[in-house]
Amino acid sequence: MSQTNVVEALVGLMANASVFYQKLRNYHWNVRGDKFFELHLKFEELYTEWALVVDELAERILMLGGTPLGTLSAILAKATLKEEIGRPESRSMVQNLAEDLDALIKQMEAVIEISEENKDRKTTNVLDGIGDQQRVHLWMLRAWLSK
Ligand SMILES: [Fe+2]
Repeated sequence: MSQTNVVEALVGLMANASVFYQKLRNYHWNVRGDKFFELHLKFEELYTEWALVVDELAERILMLGGTPLGTLSAILAKATLKEEIGRPESRSMVQNLAEDLDALIKQMEAVIEISEENKDRKTTNVLDGIGDQQRVHLWMLRAWLSK
């Protein structure tokens, strides 16, 4: 394992984080129905955090000598999370976000394994911080979905 593996793993994570960020913005704008007020605000809270997450990942990539993805086409080519192309009802939006967030947290854990193999403590710390914050959101999204 080399630092290149950490950069490559971070670029993949950043691509998915960027897709997730845009999905949150999309849902913030397009949510409808009787949960509009709470979800419109919640999605804004989340995309505001994810703008910072994407930035933190990009700057970590740069500090490791890599190049963050700068265009939407490069992001989509790299991402494994799917864009939202429809306009789901509000409950499906929360369901989709919970699934994406679960995948992102698992991906973060996989990147941490690579950074630990490289003794890259800084990357591990960055991802631990993001993971702790986002596990709280995942719990809340699942609590909202539970009946
Ligand atoms: Fe807004």
